[in-house]
Amino acid sequence: MPGNCNIKPVIRIAAAGDVHASEAIRERVQSAFARVEDEADVIMLAGDLTTTGEPEQAAVLADACSRLSIPVFAVLGNHDFHAGRADEVAALLSDAGVRVLDRSCAACEVAGMQLGIVGTKGFVGGFPGSVLPDFGEPLLREVYTETSAEAEAIARGLREIVHCDLRVVLLHYAPVEATVMGEPAGIHVLLGSDRLATSIAECGADLVLHGHAHAGSFEGRIGQIPVYNVAVHVTGRDFWIFDLEGARGRSEVEVEGPA
Ligand SMILES: [Fe+2]
Ligand SMILES: [Fe+2]
Repeated sequence: MPGNCNIKPVIRIAAAGDVHASEAIRERVQSAFARVEDEADVIMLAGDLTTTGEPEQAAVLADACSRLSIPVFAVLGNHDFHAGRADEVAALLSDAGVRVLDRSCAACEVAGMQLGIVGTKGFVGGFPGSVLPDFGEPLLREVYTETSAEAEAIARGLREIVHCDLRVVLLHYAPVEATVMGEPAGIHVLLGSDRLATSIAECGADLVLHGHAHAGSFEGRIGQIPVYNVAVHVTGRDFWIFDLEGARGRSEVEVEGPA
């Protein structure tokens, strides 16, 4: 249809972090996920899917996701590791059709475009002015190495999906300090690491989503790349809808609003 040639395709992403599912909020989770299906093309969950990482908490989220016809991508958060049963949490969600990303990437076709997603939890380390150095006791250096592995996985994933029209990075920990502002300065080192951002700046992306900083701020940037803290405590909604428009290199992100 000639009349449609100027209309750029749009991918509607419903994003939420820190859902912290449990039996106590089963009804709310069910109804939120049922509603958002009509308002988005894809759902992205930025970790802390459960309250304390118990499989029965993950089952609440899995039940809500298993009824959906749109794709769901998720990463785990620190809470999902607390009970030492993260593998079971991930398996339950995977069985319900959720693509749980862990230092990995995936792609799907939405609105005639290839949408690529790099997903990983991220880790701690801090931001310029207060960073954990690669120095001293082996235990501390192990923490540094873990964040390095996360950053390398982001870079590797972004290169793997370089052919996609649009590329999203889905994290739990923050890659920029701007989106943790509001949290006490003394814990910023535990909320994310700017080394995660280095990979994103080097490889490019169209949108970065994370959670974890419940008292943080909504918006940040890595150069020209928009970063959003989509923790439900920050957005104040069950989901926030982003319109991702156009092909990579000329993409635009519209912060459409709450769902
Ligand atoms: Fe959380
Ligand atoms: Fe968290």
